[in-house]
Amino acid sequence: MKIALLAGTAGALATGANAYTISAQDAYPDVTTDVGHLRRALPNAPDGYTPVHVQCPSNRPSVRSASSLSANETAWLEVRRNNTIDPMRTFLNRLNITGFDAGGYIDQVSNNASALPNIGIAVSGGGWRALMNGAGALKAFDNRTDNNTGSGHLGGLLQSATYLAGLSGGSWLVGSLMMNNWTTVEALQADDTGSVWEFGNSILEGPDTGGVQIFDTAEYYAHLLSDIDGKEDAGFDLSLTDIWGRALSFQLINATDGGPDFTWSSIAQSQGFQNGDYPFPIIVADGRAPGELAIPTNTTVFEFNAFEMGTWDATIYGFVPTQYLGTNFTAGEVPDSDRCVVGFDNAGFIMGTSSTLFNQFILQLNSTDISSTLKDLIGDVLDKLGRDNDDIADYTPNPFFQYRPETDPGYNSTRLTLVDGGEDLENIPLHPLIQPIRNVDVIFAVDSSADTDYNWPNATALVASYERSLSLKSNNTLFPSVPDQNTIVNLGLNTRPTFFGCNSSNFTEGAHIPPLVVYIPNSPYSAFSNESTFTLSTNDSYRDAIILNGLNVASMGNGTVDDSWPTCVGCAILSRSLERTGTDIPEVCTSCFNRFCWNGTVDSSTPQSYEPTPIIQSADTKSGATTIVVGRWAALAAAAVAVASIL
Ligand SMILES: *[C@@H]1O[C@H](CO)[C@@H](O)[C@H](O)[C@H]1NC(C)=O
Ligand SMILES: *[C@@H]1O[C@H](CO)[C@@H](O)[C@H](O)[C@H]1NC(C)=O
Ligand SMILES: *[C@@H]1O[C@H](CO)[C@@H](O)[C@H](O)[C@H]1NC(C)=O
Ligand SMILES: *[C@@H]1O[C@H](CO)[C@@H](O)[C@H](O)[C@H]1NC(C)=O
Ligand SMILES: *[C@@H]1O[C@H](CO)[C@@H](O)[C@H](O)[C@H]1NC(C)=O
Ligand SMILES: *[C@@H]1O[C@H](CO)[C@@H](O)[C@H](O)[C@H]1NC(C)=O
Ligand SMILES: *[C@@H]1O[C@H](CO)[C@@H](O)[C@H](O)[C@H]1NC(C)=O
Ligand SMILES: *[C@@H]1O[C@H](CO)[C@@H](O)[C@H](O)[C@H]1NC(C)=O
Ligand SMILES: *[C@@H]1O[C@H](CO)[C@@H](O)[C@H](O)[C@H]1NC(C)=O
Ligand SMILES: *[C@@H]1O[C@H](CO)[C@@H](O)[C@H](O)[C@H]1NC(C)=O
Ligand SMILES: *[C@@H]1O[C@H](CO)[C@@H](O)[C@H](O)[C@H]1NC(C)=O
Ligand SMILES: *[C@@H]1O[C@H](CO)[C@@H](O)[C@H](O)[C@H]1NC(C)=O
Repeated sequence: MKIALLAGTAGALATGANAYTISAQDAYPDVTTDVGHLRRALPNAPDGYTPVHVQCPSNRPSVRSASSLSANETAWLEVRRNNTIDPMRTFLNRLNITGFDAGGYIDQVSNNASALPNIGIAVSGGGWRALMNGAGALKAFDNRTDNNTGSGHLGGLLQSATYLAGLSGGSWLVGSLMMNNWTTVEALQADDTGSVWEFGNSILEGPDTGGVQIFDTAEYYAHLLSDIDGKEDAGFDLSLTDIWGRALSFQLINATDGGPDFTWSSIAQSQGFQNGDYPFPIIVADGRAPGELAIPTNTTVFEFNAFEMGTWDATIYGFVPTQYLGTNFTAGEVPDSDRCVVGFDNAGFIMGTSSTLFNQFILQLNSTDISSTLKDLIGDVLDKLGRDNDDIADYTPNPFFQYRPETDPGYNSTRLTLVDGGEDLENIPLHPLIQPIRNVDVIFAVDSSADTDYNWPNATALVASYERSLSLKSNNTLFPSVPDQNTIVNLGLNTRPTFFGCNSSNFTEGAHIPPLVVYIPNSPYSAFSNESTFTLSTNDSYRDAIILNGLNVASMGNGTVDDSWPTCVGCAILSRSLERTGTDIPEVCTSCFNRFCWNGTVDSSTPQSYEPTPIIQSADTKSGATTIVVGRWAALAAAAVAVASIL
């Protein structure tokens, strides 16, 4: 089936979505573009942003227990992990691990998936700052970045990775790469069509005229309005996240009108993903009970991957197929009388769900010159939800309705409401990567949180994940021990990469050993990359300066700030694998662990105000940013302090 035909279907549906019953096969054809006959199945929602009722496939979708990996993920991993062997061999060989034949070692374990190093990357939240700092890290890890495979460079780590998780601002980065055919950060920066990563254009105003986008701000608003109007007309509850997700898409998805028909599940249909050409993308969001204001640390943590949405937490401990979100499930099944829904899992909506903190921006629209219809719609949505719910994403009908009566506090609710993945303070999406069943060995955890007075991280996110692992022991997850934030700042562990969990003999209690966490905190190398989380517009030169800074942070200036760093990255990757295979740790790696591992020292005295200065050179590009600090942030920060003080 060709795009043109799909467009025709969409047109027909637009005249009366509910009047048509199309089969799931029609809704999810193998889309083939005419461009070189390459499958690129991303814009596959049958009616743009509007979810569509279809006949369920003969094997009706159902909720799956989280007791195993999905069959789809398991099959995909075989392809991907095999594809990481060559890049890992090349990469490790280059890293100068003296006295160790890294290539020979990878060859030796290449037939044994349980011995082969298994790498995850996690990109934190923190708005556009997190997107850009995270982008710098991925650029440092990407062998497609220009000149990035020489001595001192880390190009190839991304090609060696199995998982890539994003949260809030980090989810925008992961989503933007996925929705744009796994393009590069470099290409997104260089794009001159004006259609993508133009962060100088405030999201309140919309994209520049031209490119593949629409014409002016008025038309931008008209699109936001009509897209979500259609969803409401089709019988789905709206939340501000619908508008927010649509607006985000105009910046992140390089397609006409912000790609309203790009679904998250379509990643699974794209050729590159099926070939295992890139890591497995995961987006994280938190559960939030109706009426709950501060999100407790024991809240249910949800993930969206290309196949499934759900949680490993004991409350629900189940997954539904992402492509059938919006379908009525009762006690895990779709009742015979019900149809299935597709097209609910709009990619922008999923990214918006992970970042609902920013729904606040939609409220800001009220003070701008937008059409009264859009204002009315925003008002309507808020009236229906209640003002206290302006930060939720509505996943009604709750796919887990009556699924786990014993453990799920929300089991009897037809509504499921999700919020920003960082609201439980776990601002780095580590949860999916510490699941024992995924057997991740090392996580490169890029932290762009704004914890300190000047928007630098102080490992609050790691502390939250650690504390949660102690109190909840959810699904047998373990987490390396992490000291308090005062210690982090006093020891300078937020100014350079730090390894947590080096000594795996600390985990002898269970058979399972959690991943080594390579903490990569945003800090100033070549620029002050600490723009406020609520900065609405960042011009191209400051954007590029933050990305370059992020690259420098992750690579320690391509090894110029610390020439042992590239080697030590290799040692971090190998660490768990060497232990599993009983291989002697090379001396150079022992030095690395002495240098980069947190050694257990604690200094909890109150530190001085943390005001770091650039390590490489000063670049005062701050003037490129304009900032609006919104009220909710103060409330959230207060909540964060309250929760942190409980820990
Ligand atoms: C593993 O990857 C190699 C190189 O990419 C490829 O030649 C081989 O066919 C793959 N093997 C399997 C079992 O997929
Ligand atoms: C990057 O890695 C891929 C996968 O191993 C490889 O095919 C490609 O040639 C590499 N590119 C560069 C520039 O090294
Ligand atoms: C490799 O590491 C050794 C020390 O282990 C050092 O003497 C040598 O200069 C390094 N080589 C390169 C190419 O970085
Ligand atoms: C890459 O290296 C080439 C040759 O050394 C140089 O001309 C080019 O400017 C470099 N590109 C970047 C982006 O550094
Ligand atoms: C997607 O990326 C692959 C790999 O770079 C490329 O071969 C293909 O042409 C791209 N597809 C589209 C539709 O842009
Ligand atoms: C964005 O889309 C335009 C038009 O299709 C294309 O020319 C451009 O290369 C794309 N940019 C990226 C970064 O993929
Ligand atoms: C979190 O803990 C509180 C207090 O112990 C409990 O009432 C609540 O049900 C828990 N929530 C979840 C989602 O487990
Ligand atoms: C996942 O696997 C099941 C069968 O195991 C299949 O029916 C389904 O279509 C797959 N889903 C995706 C998104 O590939
Ligand atoms: C889901 O259930 C609701 C309430 O029973 C019903 O109105 C709606 O039509 C159902 N949706 C589908 C897709 O069957
Ligand atoms: C928008 O502004 C109008 C007039 O100032 C006000 O009545 C309305 O409640 C506001 N709506 C929202 C969503 O804040
Ligand atoms: C579940 O909800 C229904 C409808 O609101 C209510 O009648 C029923 O009592 C609830 N069941 C339990 C066990 O709370
Ligand atoms: C660390 O960050 C938290 C907020 O995440 C803040 O409350 C605390 O004061 C910070 N501590 C230090 C030492 O920076």
